[in-house]
Amino acid sequence: MSSSPRRCAPARGSAPILAVILAATVVVGAAVLVPAAHAAAPGSYGIGTTPTEAEIAGWSIAVPPSGANLPPGHGSVSQGSDLFGTVCAVCHGAFGEGVADYPRLAGGVGSLATVAPAETVGSYWPYATTLFDFINRAMPFYAPHSLTPDQVYALTAFILNLNGIVPDGFVADAQTVPAVKMPNRDGFIWKDPRPLTHDTECMTKCVDPASLRITSTAKGDHLTPRTTGPVDDMKAKHP
Ligand code: HEC
Repeated sequence: MSSSPRRCAPARGSAPILAVILAATVVVGAAVLVPAAHAAAPGSYGIGTTPTEAEIAGWSIAVPPSGANLPPGHGSVSQGSDLFGTVCAVCHGAFGEGVADYPRLAGGVGSLATVAPAETVGSYWPYATTLFDFINRAMPFYAPHSLTPDQVYALTAFILNLNGIVPDGFVADAQTVPAVKMPNRDGFIWKDPRPLTHDTECMTKCVDPASLRITSTAKGDHLTPRTTGPVDDMKAKHP
C-alpha cells in the first residue's frame, strides 16, 4: 500500500477484501434468511410483515362520491383564497385560469360539446368530493399529500367558489362537500350504451346466421394488419 493513499485509486489488495466482505454477507444473509424461510406460512414467501390498521389507514385516503372517508376538519373560501395564492397560483393562475400548460381549474361550463371543450373542475367533474380527494393526494404537484385536512377543505371551498358553484361564505367540511351538486353531475353516461355489452335480446330473438352477409371488414379496408398466417407476411397492405 502506498504511504499516501489516494481515495479514488483502486487500492491493491482491495479485491480479496471485497471477496471476504461478500462471503461474510452471504453467510450472514443465509443465516438470516434460512430460519425466516422455515417460519413462512404455507403459500407465502416468508418476507414482509402484515400491515397494521394504522399503516393501512395511512394509505387508504380515497374519498368516493358519497364523501365516506372525508376526515374531520373544515376550511372557508377566504382561507382557501389566501393559500391558493401562495401555493397553487404559480401553476394554476390566481383565478384558476391555468399558467402556460398547467391545467385550468375554473370556467368552461357549456363548452364540452363545442369544438373547443374546456374540461375543468367546474365544467367536467361530476363530484366535489373528488376535488378534496385529488388535492389531498396529488397537490401541490411538487409536494403531494403535504397539506392538512383543513387546508384541503379550504382549497376545495375556494376552487368551488371560483367556479361559482358555492357562495363566498361557504365552509367545506365532511357534510357540506358531498352535498354540493356539480354542474356536470348528469353529464355522464354510467351505463355502457354499446349493445354488445348487454344484448340480452339476441339470446331469444336471434337473427339466423345464414341470413347474414359480411359486406366489409377492417382487414379488407387495410385498416388493421392480418393477425394470422406467416409472421413475415403480417403487415398492413396499404394501397
Ligand atoms: C408546480 C405546478 C403545480 C402546482 C404548484 C400545483 N399544481 Fe395542481 N396541477 C398541476 C399539474 C401538472 C396537474 C395535472 C396533473 C395530472 O393530470 O396528473 C394539476 C392538476 C390539478 C387539479 C386537477 C385538474 C383537472 O381538471 O384535472 C387540481 C384540482 C389541482 N391541480 C389543484 C391544485 C391545488 C389546490 C394546488 C395548490 C395546493 C395545486 N394544484 C398546485 C400542477 C401544479
